[in-house]
Amino acid sequence: MTAATPIIPGFDAEAAARDFAILGKPVYGKRLAYLDSGASAQKPARVLDAMRVFTETEYANVHRGVHYLSGAATDRYEAARRTVQKFLHAAREDEIVFTKGGTEAINLVAYSYLAPIIQPGDEIVLSVMEHHSNIVPWHFLRERQGAVLRWVDVGDDGSLDVDAVDAAITAKTRLVAITHMSNVLGTVTPLKDIIARAHARGVPVLADGAQGAVHEIVDVQALDIDFYAVTGHKLYGPTGIGALYAKRAHLKAMRPFNGGGEMIREVSRERITYADPPARFEAGTPPIIEAVGLAAALDYLTSFDRAAVRAHEHDLLAYAREGLRELNWARVIGDAPGKGAILSFEAQGMHAHDLATILDREGVAVRAGHHCAQVLMERFGVASTTRASFALYNSRADVDALLAGLHKAREILAP
Ligand SMILES: Cc1ncc(COP(=O)(O)O)c(C=O)c1O
Repeated sequence: MTAATPIIPGFDAEAAARDFAILGKPVYGKRLAYLDSGASAQKPARVLDAMRVFTETEYANVHRGVHYLSGAATDRYEAARRTVQKFLHAAREDEIVFTKGGTEAINLVAYSYLAPIIQPGDEIVLSVMEHHSNIVPWHFLRERQGAVLRWVDVGDDGSLDVDAVDAAITAKTRLVAITHMSNVLGTVTPLKDIIARAHARGVPVLADGAQGAVHEIVDVQALDIDFYAVTGHKLYGPTGIGALYAKRAHLKAMRPFNGGGEMIREVSRERITYADPPARFEAGTPPIIEAVGLAAALDYLTSFDRAAVRAHEHDLLAYAREGLRELNWARVIGDAPGKGAILSFEAQGMHAHDLATILDREGVAVRAGHHCAQVLMERFGVASTTRASFALYNSRADVDALLAGLHKAREILAP
């Protein structure tokens, strides 16, 4: 953890954008409007520098060496864990397990927590707006162990009703697995209420925080959540790293996921004993350089007044929403109150991929497709959508470029 940078009230998005070299590089000769941070965010110089400097000055493998560099690298790796702990406001650093990303964090819960206890007919509650990362691991348990998936619908505006979650919980529910923020609709779920209701019935809750942790301030203790998954590359950090927060009691009871070095206490020919968490779940050489990068990214993000960043992103969302309203041929999917800065829409007479291709030629990077949320696409009766997602470095100029590109696409595709 680096020394805390004093937080400057307010937020200057243009100044922040200058921290991201890639944003200054034209695409097809056009100014880049990067509106795909929901898929992966760009990385500020501070993150790249931290990784390079660490690699040049302190790099070695962690936990196993007696030499200077191994000690230095281990210190930095464990400091990164404390940075994640602080970011999520976890009570203890050993409640943070480094993973390869958000997907692996959820799979870890499925394999190590739920698989050993789930019985045929036991239920897992999830919403229809989950990303495949928070669906497929539970399908594995359905296919392999007879678990039943209980789906909670969303309203037509994409909002999630706490009562609907409550109604899906039965005596057989073993877990509620819910997104903190939908990567398609932008819906921010009422996690605190969901958790309170689930806990009142003795059911633990996992939140997929891949998007939520980027835009909302997370306090796992205040939420009293059991499991919270994050991924580094959406948090302005590198790929190849994420983290699972889990309550200490759960981690202690969980069986190992991958087997290998560092996750054991002792190995003999006949028996094996496991290390305490989090090492038990971090077999092999971990993503050391990436952990340093993630810590730098979190330090970067938290150096800003996050409420002001949120207000900025919400301003962009409202501005874009208003612009789309004027295009009466674009149907926005997801208008839940308090939603985060993600805007998905379907454009009449235009295929999302064609639209995205034309936007790309205008320098506007958006995503088109099912966004790894096919259950949700089915719910809204669409095959795909076009999605613009906003980050702290975006500006109204990016939204203007999007709207101008949409006009152009309309002329070409549906004159
Ligand atoms: C809501 C949500 N959950 C999970 C993931 C998976 O994250 P990762 O691919 O980093 O493992 C994503 C990535 O798009 C996401 O948007």
